[in-house]
Amino acid sequence: MSQSIFKNDMLSGQRFLVTGASSGLGRAVAESIAACGGQVLGAGRNVERLQAARSSWPGQGHVACIQELGDADATAEWTKAVAQEHGSLNGIFHAAGTELLRPIRMSKQAQFNEAFGSAFFAAAGLARAASQKGVMVDGGSLVFMSSVAGSAGKVGMSAYSASRAAVEGMVRSLACEFAPRRIRVNAIAAGAVQTPMHDRITQGAAQDVVDAYASSHLLGFGEPSDIANAAVYLLSPAGRWITGTTMAVDGGYICQ
Ligand SMILES: NC(=O)c1ccc[n+]([C@@H]2O[C@H](COP(=O)([O-])OP(=O)(O)OC[C@H]3O[C@@H](n4cnc5c(N)ncnc54)[C@H](OP(=O)(O)O)[C@@H]3O)[C@@H](O)[C@H]2O)c1
Repeated sequence: MSQSIFKNDMLSGQRFLVTGASSGLGRAVAESIAACGGQVLGAGRNVERLQAARSSWPGQGHVACIQELGDADATAEWTKAVAQEHGSLNGIFHAAGTELLRPIRMSKQAQFNEAFGSAFFAAAGLARAASQKGVMVDGGSLVFMSSVAGSAGKVGMSAYSASRAAVEGMVRSLACEFAPRRIRVNAIAAGAVQTPMHDRITQGAAQDVVDAYASSHLLGFGEPSDIANAAVYLLSPAGRWITGTTMAVDGGYICQ
């Protein structure tokens, strides 16, 4: 992780649920929250990866939860149970999600379920839980991962793009619903960030193709800490007047 720009006690006494905490962006955000003194309740599917991530989070009291996320109702029940067991949440960062590169002629209901399940349906379940008594404190913050693909097209990305656009649309209405409790809801639309997901997408591609992909971002590929800095900002009191928005953290991809 690169040098933190935040004070190491900025989130002390606060508790955050982080999905996708076993890898990539979720893991980096969990680490940054912990480095700022926050308690992390980190969720993933793979036990070894999640335990390895858990051991890299500084400080005490962090929790690793194995949970498949893909259904709004099940996610809401699980989130409620997590808050009942560990205490009300100050924030939720939702990074669980999967890549899907497939042309529409080969995309069936199963692929749409896959793209929407972890990214959108789980986000909706997290939000529903947060609306219920005792799950999230007033003044809390929800941050959902989205992608530049939510607003920019590319061959083979229809299901993936639609699921991220759905997240961005939901964020605007959720911000309106949660405002009476001063709970803020935002998304981050990331460009290509070097994570295990990014490695799976680029592996096997010719070097000139990868170079062109990097060049489509004015500042090249990003690092997980680039997303973690934005996420911690939105989760923290520093973001107190930001809600209902999608923050582009994309190295200058979408502006072109
Ligand atoms: N990296 C990028 O360039 C980029 C760009 C834009 C948007 N995003 C979005 O950011 C999110 C995180 O991406 P990443 O690069 O960090 O990917 P990653 O390294 O592959 O990590 C994905 C995480 O999501 C978890 N996960 C996946 N499907 C799940 C499911 N059905 N239930 C519960 N957990 C699930 C994985 O758990 P296990 O490992 O334990 O299975 C893992 O912790 C994704 O939504 C992705 O679309 C990424």
